[in-house]
Amino acid sequence: MHGRVMATNDRSENRPSRQINVILRNQEPPVISQAVPDTEPAPIQKVIPQQKGLFADIQKELDQLVGLDNIKELIYEIYALLQIGQMRQEAGLISGNQVYHMIFKGNPGTGKTTVARIVAKLFQKMGVLNKGHLIEVERADLVGEYIGHTAQKTRDLVKKALGGILFIDEAYSLARGGEKDFGKEAIDTLVKAMEDYKNQFVLILAGYSGEIDYFLQMNPGLPSRFPIQVEFPDYSIDQLIQISEIMAKERDYILMPQAILKMKQHLLQEKCETLYAFSNARYVRNVIEKSIRQQAVRLLAQYSAGTPGKLELMTIRIEDLKFDKK
Ligand SMILES: Nc1ncnc2c1ncn2[C@@H]1O[C@H](COP(=O)(O)OP(=O)(O)OP(=O)(O)O)[C@@H](O)[C@H]1O
Ligand SMILES: [Mg+2]
Repeated sequence: MHGRVMATNDRSENRPSRQINVILRNQEPPVISQAVPDTEPAPIQKVIPQQKGLFADIQKELDQLVGLDNIKELIYEIYALLQIGQMRQEAGLISGNQVYHMIFKGNPGTGKTTVARIVAKLFQKMGVLNKGHLIEVERADLVGEYIGHTAQKTRDLVKKALGGILFIDEAYSLARGGEKDFGKEAIDTLVKAMEDYKNQFVLILAGYSGEIDYFLQMNPGLPSRFPIQVEFPDYSIDQLIQISEIMAKERDYILMPQAILKMKQHLLQEKCETLYAFSNARYVRNVIEKSIRQQAVRLLAQYSAGTPGKLELMTIRIEDLKFDKK
């Protein structure tokens, strides 16, 4: 991050299809007096191109995601802020003092990693991060075995993340062992890295809502360093069904109505029984992938002497849905 939004090649290739006209009304004593001829009382028009194409790609990825309206809104907000920041900079105004470190709160499989990847891409496209890669780590990647080891491991990972996003899953586990634990050393190193490499990487801490809150409470310096906090709610049954249909479609499969009904009933039961441990879209993905394997086994048995037709190759039937017994 360089505190400003820089032009990239990507940007010039994506010339706007639409333009925003920023009209500076000339009621105050004119600032750019030379630009306004005496005889011309009309408002000064400054045309600043809006790089619409830049967001189109991100929009496409967001459209693939079911629900998550608050997150889609936030991503657009960040985009708008960066875009306007550039216009403000061109107009000689202060811009680019934002901090983008974030907290993602939510249960497993609610889309945190997926969204972090999209955020990384947005920052890269907007010239905030020069690489836009995502390094996903957890406690074991940061915490070492002896004094000094943790700081070294953490620093090495921060260095790898420079120009991109460092995403720490189950971040609260760093505070698990209290004062004497090496997790604290990792936190201290991270806080220092946030100062040392200001604007060169974005840190995203993720975890269960309650535990993240507890973690932030234990470190009074932390909350203010993460101005953006986002909740990833659990998906409803209907959303999970939509997700399963998207996942099947992405893989060139179709779920038969009976299979969808069976899935719905199973999800209702599963969600109810596992409560906080239910892994949302990840669970659905596992079910879809398993049913794809089951379908392959069924088709091979069914068509031992021939080849199934294209539609048959695509169809997931009720009998293909098998659920693990607990
Ligand atoms: N809203 C959504 N729409 C469509 N697919 C989704 C959505 N959310 C998640 N998925 C899919 O579900 C799977 C799990 O998502 P992801 O890994 O982002 O979840 P997570 O919150 O990071 O989970 P964990 O906490 O377990 O790491 C991925 O295959 C992802 O593409
Ligand atoms: Mg994840």
